[in-house]
Amino acid sequence: MKHEIYNFSAGPAVLPKPVLAQVQEELPNWHGSGMSVMEMSHRGAEYTGIIAQAEADLRELLAIPENYRVLFLQGGASQQFAMVPMNLLAGGKAAYVETGIWSRKASSEAKRFGEIDIVASNAEAADHAVPRQETWQLRSDHRYCHIADNETVDGIEFDFLPELGDLPLVSDASSNILSRPLDVSRFGLIYAGAQKNIGPAGLTLVIVRDDLLGQAGPQVPTMLDYAVHAENDSMYNTPPTFAIYVAGLVFRWLLQQGGLAVMADHNARKAALLYGAIDGSSGFYRNDVAVANRSRMNVPFFLRDSRLDAAFLQEAASWGLLQLKGHRLLGGMRASIYNAMPETGVLALVDFLNDFARRHG
Ligand SMILES: Cc1ncc(COP(=O)(O)O)c(C=O)c1O
Repeated sequence: MKHEIYNFSAGPAVLPKPVLAQVQEELPNWHGSGMSVMEMSHRGAEYTGIIAQAEADLRELLAIPENYRVLFLQGGASQQFAMVPMNLLAGGKAAYVETGIWSRKASSEAKRFGEIDIVASNAEAADHAVPRQETWQLRSDHRYCHIADNETVDGIEFDFLPELGDLPLVSDASSNILSRPLDVSRFGLIYAGAQKNIGPAGLTLVIVRDDLLGQAGPQVPTMLDYAVHAENDSMYNTPPTFAIYVAGLVFRWLLQQGGLAVMADHNARKAALLYGAIDGSSGFYRNDVAVANRSRMNVPFFLRDSRLDAAFLQEAASWGLLQLKGHRLLGGMRASIYNAMPETGVLALVDFLNDFARRHG
């Protein structure tokens, strides 16, 4: 039997099929221009139209308020681990909440630039629950507070939006941005590598409140100063033009699906199906994360008998279910079920999970 292919990669990850079809159609000759988007000057009329439309559609999707700037940058979310403190610390201290591998990477990078307080951590919690905000040791001299809204490796997602008053909330939203509506006005800055829920690798999205711009000291390289990119509409240098174009098509596709509230429903249903299969397997599979903080995007799970891991992956691949191997630091399995993963893909995975457990349990 020939199976449809479903790609559960954590990133670079699956893109919507209609977007890939449109890219294919427009690749050699964009809208009769005689050029591929890849070949266009970023300052020409065609391309400035493409980037402006991408930004407008993103603003509509997230209802981004006027006083926030959208920046299309490079360097990945990893570069944001440095850019955030370089721009926002301004000689002061910052608060970091650690909930997994990525937020710990963010805080250790920030320590190169100043004093960082780990105000809460789930490191000692057996269920990996996100520490409740009441326990965070915030201080009035913190310049900002950093969280990772969704931990891609550990599969841990915030189930609440921190309420910080005047303290700017900075969020690494790399793996759950656009998966549900977000009240942008509650954040100082949101960043995301594009290659999970936005588009191709090479693009990094930053949404920043405009009063936070212009704090970088003179030692900060020009390319790492948010204000420079804001003043130049992400065109201080050549932006990742093709990745922005594809991201723009994804934004358009999301609007056509009905926007982020609709995507949130889809994503909740997909996650419920998958966690339901794991929890219903009588311990053949397990996920160790507190139910309230189980990620809707990245679902790590372990087989009771890890000696079956290789057979699991091999058989899954023969069913067309690809890239299910867990992160090298965690082991086990991980299924990433971003916006572009259709429910049929999750149902196919659930069928396989049940079948494999029945045969090997
Ligand atoms: C939550 C999170 N933060 C940061 C990163 C690092 O992103 P990049 O590879 O774009 O630097 C990743 C990548 O997987 C991630 O999932």
